[in-house]
Amino acid sequence: MIEQTSAADLEDFYTVGCDALAWIAEYQRTIRARNVLPSMAPRDLLAVLPKSAPEQGDTLRHIFEDFIRIVDKYSTHCNHPRYFGYFSSSAVPAAILADLLASSLNANLMLWRTAPAATEIEARVADWLREWLGLPDTWRGISFEGGSISMLHALAAARHRIAPGDAEQGCSSRLTLFASEEAHSSVEKCAVLLGIGRAQIRRISVDAAQRMRPDALCDAIARDRRDGFVPFCVLATAGTTSSDAIDPLVEIADVTTREALWLHVDAAHAGVMAILPEMRSQLAGLDRADSFVINPHKSLFVPLDLSFLYTPHATLLREAFSVVPEYLRTNEQINLMDFGLPLGRRFRVLKLWFTMRALGKHGVQRLIRHHVDLAQRLETEIRKDKRFELAAPLSFTTVCFRYLRTEEENEAILAKVLADGSCLLSSTKIRGRLVIRIAIGNCQTEWRDVEECWHLIQRFTPCFDNPVVVEGVRERDAIQ
Ligand SMILES: Cc1ncc(COP(=O)(O)O)c(C=O)c1O
Repeated sequence: MIEQTSAADLEDFYTVGCDALAWIAEYQRTIRARNVLPSMAPRDLLAVLPKSAPEQGDTLRHIFEDFIRIVDKYSTHCNHPRYFGYFSSSAVPAAILADLLASSLNANLMLWRTAPAATEIEARVADWLREWLGLPDTWRGISFEGGSISMLHALAAARHRIAPGDAEQGCSSRLTLFASEEAHSSVEKCAVLLGIGRAQIRRISVDAAQRMRPDALCDAIARDRRDGFVPFCVLATAGTTSSDAIDPLVEIADVTTREALWLHVDAAHAGVMAILPEMRSQLAGLDRADSFVINPHKSLFVPLDLSFLYTPHATLLREAFSVVPEYLRTNEQINLMDFGLPLGRRFRVLKLWFTMRALGKHGVQRLIRHHVDLAQRLETEIRKDKRFELAAPLSFTTVCFRYLRTEEENEAILAKVLADGSCLLSSTKIRGRLVIRIAIGNCQTEWRDVEECWHLIQRFTPCFDNPVVVEGVRERDAIQ
């Protein structure tokens, strides 16, 4: 007889589950005492994991104990308040609980019929977030697993508007897409998948503050039209990955209106700025976009994965992607499978529903403001230390700076901080030079965490009496 979930299994689930919940609460409470990075080399864990899967089942208790013994020990703690690398993805307790409940329900949002509550909560939560962001109420939000996949769908809708035949015939025209040199690398993958081709992305140069230059954009569009290409979309970024730079959206929207091009705004990280009334002016022009992407799993305190694509042209998405085989035919109108590539879809929006309700708009605003304050405070500290210069203006919560010496010396500081393990930092290149990057955004981060990281950097930075500018002009003043 096939074994089924028995009462004993559920008893086991309940007792181990209670311990797991207790572990989660304790993990969150004491996380600051851990290192962010584990002390391990690649393949260390593979060396201790059994090579073959077990023939016989084990107890949940044993598996849970191994999770604590192995997974916890060998993990980088993304929920850690000193995780300053890349962009943070932190999770408030309400969001963690919601993910557990979503797995229990295991709703599949492919059809309304397979997930009526989840489908309708997704629509409502998307509307709530749209309202918090001050976006037009004609925009519809659809969730995807990440910013890259959301962008893929935005560009597919853009392509469908200009070349509706391509959905049927394949990519026939010489479509070109415009994005700044600083736009996220996922645009390249999207161009590959959509058959547009990476060679048909025009990388537009940026100004001293890393923002797309509208004059260079106009020139590139004119050049392409002259050369027989078919410009179809401009991808503007509101919050670039390297430095949070915000492209001049109003000027770019003027260009896309004049040229009848699709305007996609990638605001995967910094889109949440719009929740703060005092920051909204920096995103002026956003309401003129044809599509917009924001990743709540980056800066809205929910764990991976959750991204939203907003667009007033959801019908284009449906036209491009709706393929209904006989076995999925229903009478209902809101089947999320019609709006994109995935058929099976997780109830990933539940964690945002829990988080928005648990924190409220004011709670979320308080946290985001707190992160902006921390970044500004750090910037002030960096200005005071004559060994460093700021490498880009601070527009949101990512602080980029460099030691006024060689690339190798900047790399050496970064390597020492990473080897210490207590903080995670990352680096990028700005104007061709390596810079150290501190991205603030974890829901538990306090000034003491930022300060600890900054003191560590200072400790690993050699002193010099006379700051010397190596590799070019000192640009501290130029970028302010
Ligand atoms: C501006 C920007 N867009 C898109 C992405 C891709 O998002 P995801 O990692 O969710 O695919 C990122 C990731 O950091 C990003 O910074």
